[in-house]
Amino acid sequence: MKPSSSFIMQIPKAELHLHIEGTLEPELMFALAKRNGIALPYASIDEIRAAYDFGNLQDFLDVYYQGAAVLQKEEDFYDLTFAYLAKAQTQGVAHAEIFFDPETHTARGIAFDTVVAGISRALDAGRTEFGITSKLILCFLRHLDASSAMATLEDAARHTGAIFAVGLDSSERGNPPSKFVQVFAKARELGFHVTAHAGEEGPAAYVHEALDLLHAERIDHGNHALDDEALSQELARRQIPLTVCPLSNLKLRVIADMRAHPLRTMLDKGLLVSINSDDPAYFDGYVGDNYQAVADALDLDQDDIIMLAKNSFRSSFLTQEEQQTAFAKIDAFVATEKIPSRD
Ligand code: HPA
Ligand code: ZN
Repeated sequence: MKPSSSFIMQIPKAELHLHIEGTLEPELMFALAKRNGIALPYASIDEIRAAYDFGNLQDFLDVYYQGAAVLQKEEDFYDLTFAYLAKAQTQGVAHAEIFFDPETHTARGIAFDTVVAGISRALDAGRTEFGITSKLILCFLRHLDASSAMATLEDAARHTGAIFAVGLDSSERGNPPSKFVQVFAKARELGFHVTAHAGEEGPAAYVHEALDLLHAERIDHGNHALDDEALSQELARRQIPLTVCPLSNLKLRVIADMRAHPLRTMLDKGLLVSINSDDPAYFDGYVGDNYQAVADALDLDQDDIIMLAKNSFRSSFLTQEEQQTAFAKIDAFVATEKIPSRD
């Protein structure tokens, strides 16, 4: 049965691949630029949106890092994060595991603690006001030296209560996971969980490295893992989650057309796949919009949507018990929708 758009939007879901700096909507970018007296290279909101035509990952990253320059004070990070949570609530998000890129900010002279304080305070408010639970994931910028990542990890070590895991993002090609082996070993020693972007533009070999050298518990994107059959089988056997981002893949030209998205192939191979938004302010949609886009293009039925929503919790860093509670919430939601389901 074809799922309605309200079913897709409202089904409880976890968002696991979301860069908080990628939720900076043009309206807020303008407001923060004004508040902080920062000049933007755009005359209007329309001009900003027109700049969001990317040929590849690097085109996007150049615009994304420039946009982040308006984030200066703790309240800016608070406002950014709170605005995301308010939007996420309208898209059925019950739990969010959120990336932030501290080196983007510390390189501009913003204190690490300012960034963490603003985001954490908004996550607390989101828990109270929207009932959205959350975890924070620090991403190291892979285009920078490992020494910068190691210094950032030292800052993170003072915030083990606020930061749950570490990840790896930014320009993938030419910056393999092997560059950060020592950083991730130290992060694991400190008790952080581990994830890593791999196989978005980079080859299947980078996915291998993320698993074998960084001991990643999940893979962010992972599209190119499909190029290596033995690797795909290993990912399926070990049920390593892949956090897939369909609208991101389209905007960054990882795929030519949404109908060519490998989601169905991934599911057919038994991979543990979830749907996520990556940088929703830049890629034309939040997480529910991503579910809708693949549902339309790949003709997903209601049971597919239910499975993807359950996969999102199964792929999360929530405890088994918390995951069971989430599955029960999904079942209760499906029951109230009163649309017959196969399971
Ligand atoms: N890939 C790598 N780095 C990123 C991304 C992404 O999709 N989004 C924000 N930083
Ligand atoms: Zn990402």
